[in-house]
Amino acid sequence: MSERRESIHGQWSSRWAFILAATGSAVGLGNIWKFPYITGENGGGAFVLIYLLCIAVIGIPIMMAEILLGRRGRRSPINTMRFLAKSEGRTSLWRYLGWAGVIAGFLILSYYSVIAGWAVAYFFRAATGVFEGVTAAGVEAIFGNLTADPERLLAWHTVFMVMTMVVVSRGVRSGLERAVRFLMPALFVLLLVLVGYAANTGAFMEGLGFLFRPDFGAITANGVLIAMGHAFFTLSLGMGAIMVYGSYLPQDASIGKTTLMIAAADTTVALLAGMAIFPIVLANSMEPGAGPGLILKTLPIAFGHMPGGSFFGALFFLLLVFAAWTSALSLIEPLVAYLVENVGTTRLKASAWCGFGAWLLGVGSVQSFNVWSGEEYQLWGMTFFDVLDYLTANIMLPLGGLLIALFAAWGMRRSSLLDELQITDGVVFRIWRFLVRYVTPIAVILIFLNVIGVIDLTGH
Ligand code: TRP
Repeated sequence: MSERRESIHGQWSSRWAFILAATGSAVGLGNIWKFPYITGENGGGAFVLIYLLCIAVIGIPIMMAEILLGRRGRRSPINTMRFLAKSEGRTSLWRYLGWAGVIAGFLILSYYSVIAGWAVAYFFRAATGVFEGVTAAGVEAIFGNLTADPERLLAWHTVFMVMTMVVVSRGVRSGLERAVRFLMPALFVLLLVLVGYAANTGAFMEGLGFLFRPDFGAITANGVLIAMGHAFFTLSLGMGAIMVYGSYLPQDASIGKTTLMIAAADTTVALLAGMAIFPIVLANSMEPGAGPGLILKTLPIAFGHMPGGSFFGALFFLLLVFAAWTSALSLIEPLVAYLVENVGTTRLKASAWCGFGAWLLGVGSVQSFNVWSGEEYQLWGMTFFDVLDYLTANIMLPLGGLLIALFAAWGMRRSSLLDELQITDGVVFRIWRFLVRYVTPIAVILIFLNVIGVIDLTGH
């Protein structure tokens, strides 16, 4: 029997509160900023298909595993792993998995805040009517001016980081529920408005074709890895964010159903963003592989040419900032929770130090778009920002997720799993267990082997 354990940090008021918070974590810059630009860089349809497969076969089972471990441990990820390893009779080395996750979250937050700063800047631009009647060359210049100026990027990065740490210091549960409840539907509606605009650009069908017609000739081994990495990134998996949120989940909520809802919401937002952006890209003869600036070079065109565009544009970027905000909280929550549990510091102090550290590291990402953009500052053709993004999303998260799957599937007793999932030993349990035991780990390992050239999945 499961005794009713609760986290010392409190608990969500209901299953819905958890769904909202986890969806808030999942839906963020990953869906609206990153998904379109990496899809553009990796040739479209085939990349999207692999990403969707990764969500189904890797993301969903791992999300269930993470929530399960979190709720069973009822502590920050480091202490949860330590506790579970002990109670399940496994080596205490598993606690390093918690540490790896904490480090990944910290690294991601450092650059996430810089990009979120772009969204803050674009909110003000849209609100002041800068995009009215703008041309493709105009948006290019607006984006170029922003990123060329390290001081402005630094200022917006600072604003966003302070916003994040203020909420974290108060505990992620207060306020978050309310913000997400209004934010998600509003963001969804605005994305529909944008898709509506895209439908009238004259290149809607080509845009959809780019997104959904797979051309496997366009995908590389590295592209497959990026698609998998993004499945982790967009669902906030592999570093303990969902685990720590799971640790606040009431005992009677169904893990399987909540996971499916979160994954469905997250995937829908990403696909809508793609459907809004690619028709604009193609209608204006822009380059799908334009890189991290893609949405900032396309959406302003839509806002600049639709009735009420300044209002809708400002609202859209405001919602994007909110979406990034609710994601950023979850990136640092595992570390803050750990510091409160083990170092005996207050939430306020822990948040201040974590925020300062991530802010400082973020300066490197700020510089990646200007003073450090030159080749002499690059590693393997990537800037500091690119390296951090690649390392975290494509290596650290999948590795963390792999180990989480292995621990849940092979390290936990069957009885503990059944007890925590609150299901009988039926079909659902068997499918999930089969996926996390075999399919998920093998898929992750194959994709890693593929990218280092040990095997060849893509045939070129
Ligand atoms: N999922 C968020 C997004 O798509 C980013 C994010 C929040 C995240 N928490 C995370 C990514 C934990 C990886 C791990 O924008």
